[in-house]
Amino acid sequence: MACLEIGSAQLRNRATVVGNIVTASPANDTISALVALDAKVIIDSSEGSREIPIRDFFTGFRKTVLNRSELVRSIRMPRWNKHTIGTWFKVGNRSAQAISVVHAGIVLEIDEVTDAITRADIAIGSVSEVVSVSEALREYLIGKKLRGATAKAAAQVAGEAISPIDDIRGTATYRQAVTKTAIQRSLVGLSEGFVPSPQVAPLLGWNLGQSVPSQSEISTVSEIACEVNGTSVAAPMGANSTLLGWLRANISTGTKEGCSEGECGACTVQLNGSAVMSCLTPTAQADGASVVTIEGLATEEQLHPVQERFLEEFAVQCGFCTPGFLVAAATLLEENNSPSDDEIESALAGNLCRCTGYYSIIKSLRHSDKTGSGS
Ligand SMILES: Cc1cc2nc3c(=O)[nH]c(=O)nc-3n(C[C@H](O)[C@H](O)[C@H](O)COP(=O)(O)OP(=O)(O)OC[C@H]3O[C@@H](n4cnc5c(N)ncnc54)[C@H](O)[C@@H]3O)c2cc1C
Ligand code: FES
Ligand code: FES
Repeated sequence: MACLEIGSAQLRNRATVVGNIVTASPANDTISALVALDAKVIIDSSEGSREIPIRDFFTGFRKTVLNRSELVRSIRMPRWNKHTIGTWFKVGNRSAQAISVVHAGIVLEIDEVTDAITRADIAIGSVSEVVSVSEALREYLIGKKLRGATAKAAAQVAGEAISPIDDIRGTATYRQAVTKTAIQRSLVGLSEGFVPSPQVAPLLGWNLGQSVPSQSEISTVSEIACEVNGTSVAAPMGANSTLLGWLRANISTGTKEGCSEGECGACTVQLNGSAVMSCLTPTAQADGASVVTIEGLATEEQLHPVQERFLEEFAVQCGFCTPGFLVAAATLLEENNSPSDDEIESALAGNLCRCTGYYSIIKSLRHSDKTGSGS
């Protein structure tokens, strides 16, 4: 649930859970889930390996126990037993690309005989420098039965236990109020038998089988050779070059640069079949890969079905965002040729448009019954 709330599909196709925890911002969504789940972090270095509970991993705002020579190898979570229940929630200011106003992981265990709560691990994020299990909530909930009244009182305890800050995303008063409401709703949901399952979100082409160049190739390469829109291309790569800059300098300028920081989606291209933000992709990672840009969607004779539909629905005004929308939309239709409105909105949530107002863009995909072909 937490992973599917991070950024947008294009971002999730590149970002890792380990990157999320090592950044150690209390707003990072996987942290509340992993802290509540009592995960362990396995750390390697030339000196050896160590395993530490994630609850001891964070030492302050954006600080961890990692030494300079250490890398996180993996994260382990204890298996749930049949008495374990739990959920996760996030409140943000929009449904994608939104840093959490508050987020929380909730893991409870209920005694089969007495029906009383025996474990209450609730980790609330974005309300303090470090995400940790709430001792106040644990103390209140252990021994109680999970009922509506318990949920209401626990929400009160949660509100009193946190002391959030005012910032651009929300005032302290708002965070406190929203935390109480979300905790109460989550506990009521669990008391009524809610079973957590991730929302069905389009992956925009992400798959485990895609090839990634090996690290030795990445560290030595100074010229990138890859397939762009079905044609082999080789061109030099500058230091710190992004795939977006490399494409615009060497191939064509159809792929647009909006924000350069993963927020707008204008630079969306397919990398080995997955939609990614090319502004956040180091060029070296495209070596040996297959890239599809906006120029690869149409053939000489025929526009891609999503391009036809955008024209029919007038889904374009200034056109700056359009290449990114079209590549994301074509990737969605390759995955699911009759997406629901929710799936269209979720797939395109990482793409911003300042002119059209989105309705015509969504409409153009709603009526499409054709499968995109990529290149
Ligand atoms: C537009 C945008 C929206 C975002 N939205 C959200 C959001 O909604 N919710 C959220 O939680 N996050 C969000 N993020 C943050 C980001 O997506 C995550 O933190 C992401 O998971 C980072 O993963 P990465 O693999 O790219 O890490 P990187 O950025 O490559 O690395 C992050 C840090 O971790 C270190 N690191 C990476 N791997 C290891 C390792 N194995 N061992 C030791 N250190 C390591 C790196 O050196 C670096 O310091 C957003 C980011 C952007 C750009
Ligand atoms: S997301 Fe890449 S330019 Fe905005
Ligand atoms: S059509 Fe102008 S930004 Fe989308």
